[in-house]
Amino acid sequence: KEAKLWGGRFEESVTDIVEKFTESISFDKELYKHDIMGSKAHASMLAAQGLMSASDRDSIVKGLDEIQKKIEAGEFVWRTDREDVHMNIEAALIDMIGEPAKKLHTARSRNDQVLTDFRLWCRDAIDRILASVKHLQVALLTLALKNEGLIVPGYTHLQRAQPVLLSHLLLAFVEQLDRDAGRLLDCRTRMNFSPLGACALAGTGLPIDRFMTSDSLGFTAPMRNSIDAVSDRDFVLEFLSANAIIGIHLSRLGEEWVLWASEEFGFITPSDSVSTGSSIMPQKKNPDPMELVRGKSARVVGDLVTLLTLCKGLPLAYNRDLQEDKEPVFDSVKTIVGMLEVSAEFAQNITFNKQRIEKALPAGYLDATTLADYLVKKGVPFRTSHDVAGRSVALCVAKGCQLQGLSLDEFRSISPVIDDDVYGYLGVENAIKNFSSYGSTGSAPVSDQLEYWVARLEIGTK
Ligand code: ARG
Repeated sequence: KEAKLWGGRFEESVTDIVEKFTESISFDKELYKHDIMGSKAHASMLAAQGLMSASDRDSIVKGLDEIQKKIEAGEFVWRTDREDVHMNIEAALIDMIGEPAKKLHTARSRNDQVLTDFRLWCRDAIDRILASVKHLQVALLTLALKNEGLIVPGYTHLQRAQPVLLSHLLLAFVEQLDRDAGRLLDCRTRMNFSPLGACALAGTGLPIDRFMTSDSLGFTAPMRNSIDAVSDRDFVLEFLSANAIIGIHLSRLGEEWVLWASEEFGFITPSDSVSTGSSIMPQKKNPDPMELVRGKSARVVGDLVTLLTLCKGLPLAYNRDLQEDKEPVFDSVKTIVGMLEVSAEFAQNITFNKQRIEKALPAGYLDATTLADYLVKKGVPFRTSHDVAGRSVALCVAKGCQLQGLSLDEFRSISPVIDDDVYGYLGVENAIKNFSSYGSTGSAPVSDQLEYWVARLEIGTK
């Protein structure tokens, strides 16, 4: 058996069971690129500070580049007995270039090393997720533009409420995603500080330059407190919280599409290319991708809960428990990117069934609130007008007609204030025309929103 890099004080080697249980190479090899990036920056700093010669630095950098190439070509052998990504790469470098490689771990611990890698990895992951968020926003905006002017029933309690423009509804999701992106950016900003040089927990007496490594790795500054630097996992908690919220938003979008694709709603038809069938029922065409988006949101919430539970009650500073922080993050990122991508794909492959929607619109008295507003415009206090509109609806229910179907005499029997002009307020088209407040579903405010998003997302002209 090969001696461990930390083996000096040990007389026995670890058992196979312990070795297998404690390894992390099976998953943390994901960090290889950032580990190499961090090591190159660290070696350059050590050389600049006179802690290693320029020629040692050069062989280290060259060796690490070589190792990266091997990893990317699938030729690198990851060894469980070398425990984790850090020791796999360091030991391979020693095998490759010998003595100079033994200087690389000067003024560094795996505790600050792993966090350097992990912060760099998460930073890149956030950038990837942000691109996918934008991609979905563009898909939703495109759908909104394509269907501008289409009126759909709006719901509260899943009961018919008021008519809304489809574009308005789609832009509601675009807004949610915008805050999601904002949360990721906030988290990125707070995350982007360098733990490198914090060493095990206490820093070092060697003359290192933490500002230099921080700069060269694109961090804002070194972290102020070495104990905090190796203990902190709130950067991942924040990241996974942001992902969990995205997951919840997408699950709501998923539920909307699933519902709308049902025979009962029938508002959308997903194309065959984003649907799947049943192994027994020949007629079935299911919106599985969006059901899975709804389902996979459970994973990203679970990933966050895993991390929260992992960190609860841990004493300062590093504890081996923290090795368990990687897999939930990798899972969360992979899952959220998949969810965002498939949601965009779905949005690009649905059509709105205009006839079906039109047929659905008259039901549910979507214009009842507009009738109440009409009376307010005539000077009736809202509580009274609410009652008048409510009694008008009751009469419609008894007669089996819509509000437009009541005669002026019938209206006047409920309130003498009602005039002929009331018919200019009834029906969903009139109701939509009546909306004018900022952010409302009226044609003009929605057109303003569309214009705003076209400019924000830079998708050309409306
Ligand atoms: N594989 C470890 C982790 O992911 C690296 C740090 C280990 N440090 C230690 N002192 N055992 O957390």
